[in-house]
Amino acid sequence: MSSSRREFGSQILGSLVAYGLIETLWSRDLLADNVKPTIGDWLKDLVAMTNDLRGRKLTDLEFQTKMEELYKRVDLKTLSTFVKLDDIEKKSKLPDNGAASLGIDLSTVEGLPEVRFGRQIFGCKKGRSIVPHGHSNMCTGFIVLKGEWHGRHYDRVETHAEHFIIKPTIDRAFKAGDLSTISDHKDNIHWFEAKSETAYIFNVHVTGYDPKIDGNSGRLYVDPDGEKLSGGLVKAAKMTSALCHKKYG
Ligand SMILES: [Fe+2]
Repeated sequence: MSSSRREFGSQILGSLVAYGLIETLWSRDLLADNVKPTIGDWLKDLVAMTNDLRGRKLTDLEFQTKMEELYKRVDLKTLSTFVKLDDIEKKSKLPDNGAASLGIDLSTVEGLPEVRFGRQIFGCKKGRSIVPHGHSNMCTGFIVLKGEWHGRHYDRVETHAEHFIIKPTIDRAFKAGDLSTISDHKDNIHWFEAKSETAYIFNVHVTGYDPKIDGNSGRLYVDPDGEKLSGGLVKAAKMTSALCHKKYG
């Protein structure tokens, strides 16, 4: 290339940068085919992000935003292949109540730093649910791998001895590639009901991210079908796992 042509090219590039066109293309995902990271790089970003949450370099709300951005960047087909969704579908029997929880081995991923987050795939038959529940001191991110779900989320506004005060935040259909996150401060309670013959959803969770929050990270089962209060709030009774699965599983 002659020096004048090279100069011309760099001038054009300079103008694109100056007018913000590069950023526009980037944000509209028009360059996605070229920028989708490999699954190994994607997992490294996930490890870094979860460690930043544990190290208090990210607040839970910042983590939720970043986790959602990360999920938007993943190639769903590659992720499904990586977690062997086909094998899981063939080998696992989905339960008549509630959801199957299937682990994912990351030990084969070369060069991955120490993994300090939990992960699994939940699978449900049509009409069955990952029943309504919240968590203390846990951040999670979900992305639908296959099928259709109805997803409902609620903020956990107050915690009392026998009930929570909750506020509906998300109530919509989730299809492949759709995602959501939870933390103690946003969308804490989640509930996914399978709407297709089978449905699978991938989950990442980080427990004990904030030393100032009391309580373990186990499921806090709740009945969102409670007394309606003013301001769109609901008085939602605490439930045992058995009762919650009987009503919603
Ligand atoms: Fe959960």
